[in-house]
Amino acid sequence: MNITIVGTGYVGLVTGTTLAELGNSVYCVDIDEKKVEGLKSGIVPIYEPNLEEMFLRNIQAQRLFFTTNLKEALDKSEVIYLALPTPPGEDGSADLSYVLKVANDIGEMITEYKVIVNKSTVPVGTADKVKEVILSKTHIPFDVVSNPEFLREGFAVEDSMNPARVVVGSSSDKAKEVMSKIYQPFTNTGVPIIFMDEKSSELTKYASNSFLAVKITFMNEIANYCEKVGADVDKVRLGMGSDDRIGNRFLFPGIGYGGSCFPKDVKALIKSGKDDKFHFQILEATENVNAAQKIILISEIEKYFGGNIKGKTIAVWGLAFKANTDDIREASSLDNIKILLEKGANVIAYDVVAENNVKKLIGNTIQYAKSMYEALENADALFIATEWPEFKNPNFDLMAKKMNNKVIFDGRNMYPLEIPEQNGFFYKSIGRKT
Ligand code: UGA
Repeated sequence: MNITIVGTGYVGLVTGTTLAELGNSVYCVDIDEKKVEGLKSGIVPIYEPNLEEMFLRNIQAQRLFFTTNLKEALDKSEVIYLALPTPPGEDGSADLSYVLKVANDIGEMITEYKVIVNKSTVPVGTADKVKEVILSKTHIPFDVVSNPEFLREGFAVEDSMNPARVVVGSSSDKAKEVMSKIYQPFTNTGVPIIFMDEKSSELTKYASNSFLAVKITFMNEIANYCEKVGADVDKVRLGMGSDDRIGNRFLFPGIGYGGSCFPKDVKALIKSGKDDKFHFQILEATENVNAAQKIILISEIEKYFGGNIKGKTIAVWGLAFKANTDDIREASSLDNIKILLEKGANVIAYDVVAENNVKKLIGNTIQYAKSMYEALENADALFIATEWPEFKNPNFDLMAKKMNNKVIFDGRNMYPLEIPEQNGFFYKSIGRKT
């Protein structure tokens, strides 16, 4: 099939590459000329395991193309995916201006039947809005389909090539047939494709992300309570997770959820609810608990240093909002660094992948180390903010030699409790005994 993808951001690029890998000819369109030039010359602008190989393979196979010319791409394609940004406005609602502007352009440009696929995370009713905008511009037949994306950053290629399910919201049999054909390589291997109406599909995306945010937050509260009563959240998690109605994934407590999706989508669903005179009480509570959870270790650090961390040097391992990504949007590391600096501490951070993004944001208000051990040079404490695999098995002897104090505040529960303790470290993690 010939497919256009409008928007070469995270979702657009991964979707385009995946669809090319499945054998389609894919035309990726972006208004950013510099970005398109880079993509054409084989530069992948995001960090995502295994994406580059797949991307280059499909460019070479002449199945993946990049252009700034929307009209040219549309003329070649029967299906048009919209993978455009929907940033949160000040009130938390998703800003649809990019999506609706492109819908308008599509309405002005199409000359034959097209299926327009909403891949962006958009509020309930957006498919109808896109339809309206296109209809106001053309009499050519078309269908608008909602087809939300469920991939995780850091696992984008893996999730796109092995999705748990494909959700398609459409009231048109013709469009459903087209979507079935596109996803046939998946359905052939047993991946379910779930058809529904457009609104239910749009809500499925928000409901899924919000549910996972609630699940994590619930576990964070259980972890905090474990500390009060002397229970161990690792044990509780295993005990709960082996009931398959609960499931053992997304039960890991830590310093809160971040990233470009959960915080934005929880906020947007609360706002949509308000617009519809509906109060999402559980989501409001989730937001509040998460905000406090992100900085829960600050008071522990202060307590350890007798209430005053002025002049103390805190090493921070990890800056990304989670491992395997350079994304720092809503990263807990940033909330903690901000408070540490406000309280007069010095921060030296290490994250080779996310360092540049943090530099762009906060510059040299903190120091950056070239290695995890360099960050520990004369540090008074270590704070672990991201669960990068390289932190999993550290050399505790070397750490002890570098640091002023043998102290670890671990926001990601990286180690079995006894390991740092056997090595003589004070070790404070989440939901476990100190
Ligand atoms: C999330 C969803 O998992 C994807 O299914 C969805 O497609 C995506 O949002 C999106 O809407 O685009 P992502 O934001 O990449 O994916 O990251 P997750 O792996 O879900 O992690 C989100 C946050 O939750 C991270 O801060 C992570 O550290 C935290 N988390 C996750 C926990 O604190 N505990 C857990 O057990 C799992």
